[in-house]
Amino acid sequence: MQARMLMLAVYITACLGARFTTTSMPAPAASTSTPPPSTAARTTLVFDDLPSAMPSVCTDANSIHSPLARLRSAMRNKGYTQMNAFFDAFIIFFSDEHLSEEPSKEERRLEYFSGWDGAGTGVVMGDGGAALWVTSGEVQRARASVSCAWDVIDSDNLSQPIIPEWISDKIGRTGRVGADARLTSVNEWQLLSSHLQQMGLTLIHTPTLLDQLWNEELDPDRRRPDFSKIVANLHVMEYTGMTWRDKVTKVREELQTMGADAMVVTALDEVAWLLNVRGKDLPYSPLLKAFVVISTKEVRVYAPPGKLSMPVREVLAVYNCFTNNCTRVQEYTNIYADLRRATESKILIPTAGTFHRGASAAIAQSVPQAKRLYLMSPIIYLKAQKNEAERKGMKKAHLRDAVAMCTVLSYLEQRRVNIGTNAYTEITVAKMVDMTRETQAGFVSASMKTLVAFGPNGADPYYVPTVASARRIFTNSTMVIRSGGQYDEGTTVITRTVHYGRPTKDDRRAYTTVLRSIAALSTLQWPSALPAAHLDPVARAPLWAANQDYSHPTGHGVGAALNRLEDPVVIDYRQDVNLHTLREGYYITTEPAWYDTGRFGVRLGNVLEVVTKPHGYFRFREATLVPFEPNLIDKAMLTDYEINWLNDYNSRIRSTVGPELKEQGLFDVFYWMSNKTAPYTLPSKQKMALRGAGYSNQANLLSLVTLFLAFLLA
Ligand SMILES: *[C@@H]1O[C@H](CO)[C@@H](O)[C@H](O)[C@H]1NC(C)=O
Ligand SMILES: *[C@@H]1O[C@H](CO)[C@@H](O)[C@H](O)[C@H]1NC(C)=O
Ligand SMILES: *[C@@H]1O[C@H](CO)[C@@H](O)[C@H](O)[C@H]1NC(C)=O
Repeated sequence: MQARMLMLAVYITACLGARFTTTSMPAPAASTSTPPPSTAARTTLVFDDLPSAMPSVCTDANSIHSPLARLRSAMRNKGYTQMNAFFDAFIIFFSDEHLSEEPSKEERRLEYFSGWDGAGTGVVMGDGGAALWVTSGEVQRARASVSCAWDVIDSDNLSQPIIPEWISDKIGRTGRVGADARLTSVNEWQLLSSHLQQMGLTLIHTPTLLDQLWNEELDPDRRRPDFSKIVANLHVMEYTGMTWRDKVTKVREELQTMGADAMVVTALDEVAWLLNVRGKDLPYSPLLKAFVVISTKEVRVYAPPGKLSMPVREVLAVYNCFTNNCTRVQEYTNIYADLRRATESKILIPTAGTFHRGASAAIAQSVPQAKRLYLMSPIIYLKAQKNEAERKGMKKAHLRDAVAMCTVLSYLEQRRVNIGTNAYTEITVAKMVDMTRETQAGFVSASMKTLVAFGPNGADPYYVPTVASARRIFTNSTMVIRSGGQYDEGTTVITRTVHYGRPTKDDRRAYTTVLRSIAALSTLQWPSALPAAHLDPVARAPLWAANQDYSHPTGHGVGAALNRLEDPVVIDYRQDVNLHTLREGYYITTEPAWYDTGRFGVRLGNVLEVVTKPHGYFRFREATLVPFEPNLIDKAMLTDYEINWLNDYNSRIRSTVGPELKEQGLFDVFYWMSNKTAPYTLPSKQKMALRGAGYSNQANLLSLVTLFLAFLLA
C-alpha cells in the first residue's frame, strides 16, 4: 500500500523516459524540487533562435485542401467549432482515448495534420504558424518529416518555449485554445489549462473538430483508415490461469481497501488482462479497444459494436445480466455520459505511472468531482505478477522467439556475400527479422517496430531508420537489432549486436563491457525489499568503470501477451519517485548499451524473470535464450564468475532451444547455435595474475577488499 501511495506523487513526474511518454509539455516537473525558470525569462530567451518568418513555399499551408489549411478555416467556422465562437489556436495530441503508446492508424490525428508519425504535440494557429513539440531524440527525424509550415521544438530543452508560452507569444493575452481532452492525460491537461489561464487564454475541450475534418477528407491517400473490424477473442484459461470472475473479485477487494466502490479501467492492456480477451486493434499489442467500469454492483464493458466474438460474449455472460457476476456490454462512446450519471460514490480514476499515462482528462472530467478518487490502478500490480500459466506461456513464447532469432541471425551470417549491397540495409534486415518471426506457430504480431542500426546509427539510442537515413550494412562496424514478438502465449523483446567483419579492439571492448553489465544483473541476488530502481548501479557498474553511460532506463516491466512495456517497475538510477520493488513472477528487461557517438553502438537486451530464493531473497532467470556473439567477446576482460555465468547461459540455450531447432528441422541453425554457445574454458589463476591492463587490477583490488571485509566480519 505504501508503495502505491508513493506512486501518487509519480503521476506528476511521469517523464523519466520522455521516450516512453508523450510529453505534451516539456517535462515541467522533471524534478519537483526545482521550480521552472520564470516564464518571462524563458520566453524572451527563446524566440531569437526560432525562425522568425515562415518560408512562403509550404504547400500544406497554402493549398486550401491540405489538412492544415482546412483546420485553420474550421477554427473560424461555427459549423465546426460547435459554439458561437472561434479558436485562435488548436492543440493536436498524439494518442488515442486510452493514451496508448502506439495508437492504431485511424487514431493518428497528429500524423494526418502534420505528417509526423511519432509521439509529440502539435499546435496550429488560426492566423498562420504551426509548431510541433517532440523529445530531443526525435527532433531531427521530425524536422525531416514535416513541411516548412511547421516549427519543430525540442520539448526536453528548457530554453525552448513550452506550448502555452508559444501560443501566448503569438496571440497575446486573450484568446481561445481548442483541444480534444479525450487524447491527453488528466495532469497534462490540467498543467496546460492552468498555464494558459495564467496568460489569459482559455483551453476548451472540443472532441469533434479534428475527427470531423479527417472523416471528411476526400484525398484517398489521406483518408481516415477504417477502424479494424477484427473481432476480439477469448484468451483461454491455458494462457491466463485465472477466470475473469476471479480477476474481478480480486480487483473489487483491492478497490475496497482503497476506499473506492468503482473503477474505470482505461488502459487497453488492463482491459485485456481483466476480461481474458485479446484483440487486434493496436499495431504492436494484441488488445481490444474498450473501456471497463467495475463496481461492487456490476461490470460494464464499453466496446465498439460487433467487436466481441460469440465465445467471448458467452464466457463474459453478457446475456440477461442482472447480477454483479456477469457483464453488460455498452456502446463504446457511451462511457462519458454514463460516468456523468454514475450512481457509485467513489470512482477510482487511474493516475499515470512511469510508462503508462493513466486516464484521459475527458474520462476524469466526466466523473462528478465529488466522486473522483485519483490513484494508481490496482490492476497494474495484479497484471505484473505472472501466475504459473502465464509463466509457462512466456517460456513458450521465448522459445519460439529464440528459434526465430537464431534462424535470422544464422541466415544473415551465412549470406555475407550480400554485405555492402542493397540487399542488406537497415530496412531489409528489419524485414527479414519480421518475416522470420512470422513463421513461428502462435505468432500474432511484432511487439515493437523492428529497429536495425548500423555503424554510427547504432550510437543513437532513439534512431529509427527511414528510407533516407537507412545505411547499407558493411563489414567494418557493429549492427544493433532491436525487436520483439507477440505470440498467443506471451510477449518477447530482445536486442542483439553483431559484426560481419573483424571487430576492432574498441568494438570488442564495448561489447564485452555491455555483456558484463548483462551478467551483473543476471547473476545478482538481492533482498526482496530493494526498490527495482536501485538495482541499476549494479547493472551499469561495468560501463561506468569505462566512463560510459546511457540516457534510457536499463529495464522495464514486460507483459504476458500484452504490452512489451508495462509498469510498475523501472530500473533506472535517475528515478527517485518510482521505488516499486520486484515480486516473484515479474518480468523485466535489461538493456544496457555503449554508445560511441558518431562511430558505433552496442546494445544487448534480455528479458529476465524474477524468482524467489530462500531467506527473503530474489534472483533473475533469463527468459530470453539467444546466443551472444563470440567474435565480439574479449574473454580476457571476463572474470571466472562471468565466464561461469556465460557458460551456464549457453548451456541452457543448447538444452532448451537445441531440441526445438531439431524438431523444426532447422539443422543448419542448430549447428550455428551450437557453435555460438561453445563453452569457454576458465583461465588458470596464473594467467589471471598476468593479465595486464586496468581490469585485472580492478579484479585484484576487489578480491583484496573482499578479503579485508571477510577479515573484519570474522
Ligand atoms: C457466478 O456465476 C457463475 C457462472 O455462471 C456461477 O458458477 C457462480 O456460482 C456465480 N457466483 C455467484 C457469487 O453468484
Ligand atoms: C565502412 O565501409 C564503407 C564501405 O567501404 C565506408 O563507406 C564507410 O565509411 C566505412 N565506415 C567506417 C567506419 O570505416
Ligand atoms: C564456429 O565458430 C568459429 C569461431 O567462433 C568459426 O571459425 C567456425 O567457422 C565456426 N564453424 C561453423 C561450422 O560455423
